[in-house]
Amino acid sequence: MRFAERLGVVPPYLFAELERKIEERRRAGVDVISLGIGDPDLPTPEPVVRALEEAASDPATHQYPTNRGLQRFRDAVASLYEERFATQVDPASEIVPVLGGKEGVAHIAFACLDPGDVALAPEPGYPPYTSGPLFAGAEVCYLPLTEENGFMPDLDGIPAGMLARANLLFLNYPNNPTGAGVQPGFFERAVAFAREHDLVVVHDNAYSEIAFDGYRPPSFLETEGAKDVGVEIFSLSKGWNMTGWRVGWIAGNAEVVEAYRQLKTNLDSGMFDALQLAGVAALTEARDFPAEMSAIYKRRQELMVDALARIGLPAEPPQATPYIWVRVPEGHSSESFTELVLTEAGVVVSPGPSFGPSGEGFVRISLTVADERLEEAASRIATSLRVEAGA
Ligand SMILES: Cc1ncc(COP(=O)(O)O)c(C=O)c1O
Repeated sequence: MRFAERLGVVPPYLFAELERKIEERRRAGVDVISLGIGDPDLPTPEPVVRALEEAASDPATHQYPTNRGLQRFRDAVASLYEERFATQVDPASEIVPVLGGKEGVAHIAFACLDPGDVALAPEPGYPPYTSGPLFAGAEVCYLPLTEENGFMPDLDGIPAGMLARANLLFLNYPNNPTGAGVQPGFFERAVAFAREHDLVVVHDNAYSEIAFDGYRPPSFLETEGAKDVGVEIFSLSKGWNMTGWRVGWIAGNAEVVEAYRQLKTNLDSGMFDALQLAGVAALTEARDFPAEMSAIYKRRQELMVDALARIGLPAEPPQATPYIWVRVPEGHSSESFTELVLTEAGVVVSPGPSFGPSGEGFVRISLTVADERLEEAASRIATSLRVEAGA
C-alpha cells in the first residue's frame, strides 16, 4: 500500500513517545496524574445536556444539516458578540459553525493557502497552525513568542522573502501554551499590518472566557477594521467543558466565512442540528458558566503556583487559560524534566518544544484535574526533585 506524501510532511508528533511512556507506567501499576492535555475534567453544564436530549428526540433534527448552520445558532452567536464584546456580527453572512476550533484552524488553511504560500504562525503555539498549512502544501514561518517580547510576535522581524509570500496570519490570545493575554494596541497593529501586506488574519479565540482577577479578554473582532482583514475562531470546548461535543464557529469577514463554507460543503455536511441547539443553550441558558469555571481554575492556579514556588519553580500566574507555563529547573531541558517527573513522580506535563522551538526550557501544566490530584502531583514533583538532588 502507498499513502499520500502529505502525511509525511507534518513534523513528528512529539507527544507520541511521551504517550508510549505513560502507557508503560500505567501498565507497571503507577497511578499516573496527567497535567498534559487541556481537557476539562468537570461535566458540561446541565442545560446544554438537556437541550441535546430534547433536540435529539425531535425527528426534525435527524436529517442533513446545512453547512451554513441553523439560523438560531447563528443568532445566538451574534448575541454573544453583541453582549460580551460589544461587536456586531451579521448572522446571515459573517458566522458559520465549525466542528470544534481545531477543524476550523485546519480547514481555514485549506481555504486560504496554495502551494508556495506562507502561513505566519506564533510559536510556541497550537500544533494545527503548522499541520493545517503544511497539509495544504504551504510553508510555515514561525513567529517566536518569548518572555522578552511579552509573548507578542515581532511583526517587523518577519523576513521579507517570507512576508512577500504570506497570505495567512494566525494569532491566539489568550495564548496557549503561555497563558499570555494580548497587549493593548497589538490587535490594532495586526489589522494595519494585514492591510499593508494583504494578509488574512485568523484569530484563534479558544480561551477568552477562562480568565481571572477581573480580566475580560477582548475579541479580535472588537478591533476597528478587524472584519476587513480577518476572522475569529471561537470554541465552546474550554469555557463550557464541551471538548467532546465539537462545537465552535468562525465569525468575521464575510468573504473568508464564505470561502471556508464553500470548502466545507465539499468535505462534510455540517454540524448535527441537535448539537447546534445544545450550543444555543450554552450561549443563552449557560452564558455565565465559564465564569464559574474560571473561579475553579483560579483556585487551582493559586494552589499550583504556590506549590511550585515552594519547590523552587517560580511561575507567573497567567491572566487567562487553564494553563501554567513553567520554566524548568537549572540543568534540565524540557524533555529531561518531563521525563524525570513522569518516571519518578508519575506526573505528565507537556514539554514546551511540543508547541514549537521557542518552548525549549518550559513545560506546560494543565489545571484540568481536581484540586487533590494537583496537590498530590505537586508533592510528588517536589519529592522527585529532592531525590534527584540527593537530599
Ligand atoms: C489554542 C487552541 N485553539 C483551538 C483549540 C481547539 O479546541 P476545540 O477543537 O476543542 O474547539 C485548542 C485546544 O486545545 C487550543 O488550545
